[in-house]
Amino acid sequence: MSGRSALRLTRAVAPLLNTTRASTRISRSLPVAHRAFSQSSVRLRSDVVRETEVPVSVYSPDSTGAAGSTSDHFSIPVNRDDATPKPFPPPEDTEVIPLSKAVYRQMPPTLQKMSIMDKVVIITGGARGLGNHMARACAEAGAKALVIFDANQELGDEAAAELHQKTQLPVSFFKVDVRDGAAINAAVDSVVETYGAPDVLINSAGIADSNIKAETYDPAMFRRLIDINLTGSFLMSQSVGRAMMAAGKPGSIVLVASMSGSIVNYPQEQSCYNASKAGVIQFGKSLAAEWAKYNIRVNCISPGYMDTALNRVPALEAQKKIWRSLTPQARLGNVDELNGLCVFLASDASSFMTGANVAIDGGYTVL
Ligand SMILES: NC(=O)c1ccc[n+]([C@@H]2O[C@H](COP(=O)([O-])OP(=O)(O)OC[C@H]3O[C@@H](n4cnc5c(N)ncnc54)[C@H](O)[C@@H]3O)[C@@H](O)[C@H]2O)c1
Repeated sequence: MSGRSALRLTRAVAPLLNTTRASTRISRSLPVAHRAFSQSSVRLRSDVVRETEVPVSVYSPDSTGAAGSTSDHFSIPVNRDDATPKPFPPPEDTEVIPLSKAVYRQMPPTLQKMSIMDKVVIITGGARGLGNHMARACAEAGAKALVIFDANQELGDEAAAELHQKTQLPVSFFKVDVRDGAAINAAVDSVVETYGAPDVLINSAGIADSNIKAETYDPAMFRRLIDINLTGSFLMSQSVGRAMMAAGKPGSIVLVASMSGSIVNYPQEQSCYNASKAGVIQFGKSLAAEWAKYNIRVNCISPGYMDTALNRVPALEAQKKIWRSLTPQARLGNVDELNGLCVFLASDASSFMTGANVAIDGGYTVL
């Protein structure tokens, strides 16, 4: 039994023994009869095999084995000094290649399910950053039309024009503030009229206040952040959800929350942001339960520290060293690293998945 299993077992047994001692100490003092499994013998260092080479066998039509054999046999060296994580380059501003119907038809069923062929997608916060890259990913995954809702007129317009120019897909931009329920409803009605009811909502619009002490936090700023991050998630989901229900269409809602909704990002002081994202996660779960009967799925993505404009502020430079040191992958996430999960959650490949909150954080929250 591993150390962890032993610890879990002793935790389970402790209440039965009516003792308050620390579980590890209980483990040592337990009579043998109370141990449900035999203790593992201590593994000796010499038991661990440390190969200098790994033998490999490959069976493939391309094999060049002797006498027409279909297998190759060789060894690869083992490098034990290479413990430094490899850098993972951020994306270049490359083309966006839409998934064509011809290519889609050639894809095996599993990959077809992972696409969002012919779906209408609304993305809030799609003018820049994570939302913009998820919009690009949706184009590459087969979306029929992309609709960006964002409060930034100039960036939103530019983003829509660029995405259309790169993909030739229909792309619309609505200058909408996610706090404005009436404007959202008008924009969603217009989407329904133009493209039909949306199949997917990706809610990425959000703001962050960092390094503001709770004791001096301006209540007006606190309300503003909650209004954008949490009330905005509600207003967008309500409006798009109603359109899906009215059309009797199944749908997928993806809320961009944050790992800050589940952990506290010590040492920076950002109680309001953390509270807003915890609200988004719990709101998403509640909505998932309520709307399962309409075939509308709701899931959250919880990113860790990502390398976007949101974090490119001088005040955070020193803290980024701490962020990296606390992230097992020792880096910030690239701006396109939510794309795969976003498409998966939007697609029918995740059809039995609702109410989930999935972290993409380089391992930060495992610690
Ligand atoms: N960058 C990170 O490290 C990180 C980590 C965890 C979660 N997140 C979350 O991911 C989401 C996107 O973050 P990002 O890094 O791409 O940020 P970003 O600032 O680059 O992009 C956010 C977008 O949202 C838009 N927006 C802001 N307020 C709005 C409003 N009231 N109405 C409509 N649009 C509005 C902005 O104009 C912008 O285009 C946010 O919800 C953020 O909280 C980011």
